Amino acid sequence: MSAPFLRLNEVELAGRRVFLRADFNVPLSDDGGVADDSRIRATLPGIRDCLARGASLAIASHLGRPTAGRLGPHESLAPVARRLSELLGRPVPLVKEWRSRDFAPPFGEVVMLENCRGNAGETADDPLLAERLARYVDVYVNDAFGTAHRKECTLSALAKAAPMACAGPLLAAELDALGRALAAPRRPLAAIVGGSKVSTKLAVLERLAEQVDLLIVGGGIANTFIAAQGHDVGASLFEAELLASARRISERLAQRGARLWLPTDVVCADHFGADAEIRVCTLDQVPSGWMILDVGPDSQAALTPALADCGTVVWNGPLGVFELDPFAAGTRALAAAIAASPAFSIAGGGDTLAAIARFDVADGLDMISTGGGAFLEFLEGRTLPAIAALLEARRNAAGATV
Ligand code: 3PG
Repeated sequence: MSAPFLRLNEVELAGRRVFLRADFNVPLSDDGGVADDSRIRATLPGIRDCLARGASLAIASHLGRPTAGRLGPHESLAPVARRLSELLGRPVPLVKEWRSRDFAPPFGEVVMLENCRGNAGETADDPLLAERLARYVDVYVNDAFGTAHRKECTLSALAKAAPMACAGPLLAAELDALGRALAAPRRPLAAIVGGSKVSTKLAVLERLAEQVDLLIVGGGIANTFIAAQGHDVGASLFEAELLASARRISERLAQRGARLWLPTDVVCADHFGADAEIRVCTLDQVPSGWMILDVGPDSQAALTPALADCGTVVWNGPLGVFELDPFAAGTRALAAAIAASPAFSIAGGGDTLAAIARFDVADGLDMISTGGGAFLEFLEGRTLPAIAALLEARRNAAGATV
């Protein structure tokens, strides 16, 4: 089902000034370069399309969380402009101090606007700032799914102030994939929610408990569910105050006839570290003072059959401390099981992306979301402010032409 916002491919661009909001909030390396350019690469199709169709293209993004008017040395988009220029094979000048002047380049050319959070009014979603910027914009394009959960001027107020607003191809593809996975999924629908704390993902777990046929929990989150079943988890990371929530989620799944997957065996360590002494044990045998840091071999082997007949898989979070070799096997087995499953699969979140890269399974997934917080908020069922702004802009435009 396609979302009812305008898309870039439906808009005439020749001879128009395009303002494209990207999410180039990327990690920088010590030598002043871009450490991971995947978000930049993911936005290239929209950028190339605008240029090929003769638009004047100004690209905006935030980087970090600077104080307006005072960009620190690691808060300039200069390294991003350089990397983008290399990837496009053409100059991408960086425009500073663009809040109060015409920033649109000549038609057929592209500029990178300096960190938009440097502008006073950006994070406050200031409509006056939006009006001022809109003077130099004919078409507003949002291609920043990763930051669609923020209500800021270049994501929200500007979309409504510009003469026309649409979704870029990256944003549209991510929303289409998430819609396909959650609004009308091919069943059985499985979700994997891993990571350290139930508290950070409680809303996601509660929502998924109403939707999925299979919920796989991992990491510290699984420890809380294991403890909620009455097992002693030793010195493992778990949240005693969330045992009741874990029980409620388990009961809701059971009521709906859905399955909760927990490991049957676990990898325990006498301390947190790659040099720890390790034991594989059942859930009833976790030695006192030891901690669960991964799922065990029987559980790993159970993952592929568990996902083999699924129609859809949504993945957020690892099963163990995969950054350390002795505890990587569970997440590796999960990644392989998802890649091997014929299900439509979508993954998102910082740790998940790191696991996908580490285990080299990107080709086995149908969609890797560029969103961390935005991905989680979507899974929670929240309306993302940037999407709401695009929808409002479309309704306003339709009203104006009636
Ligand atoms: C992200 O990297 O998650 C987004 O770019 C949002 O960044 P923020 O949390 O600083 O708003």
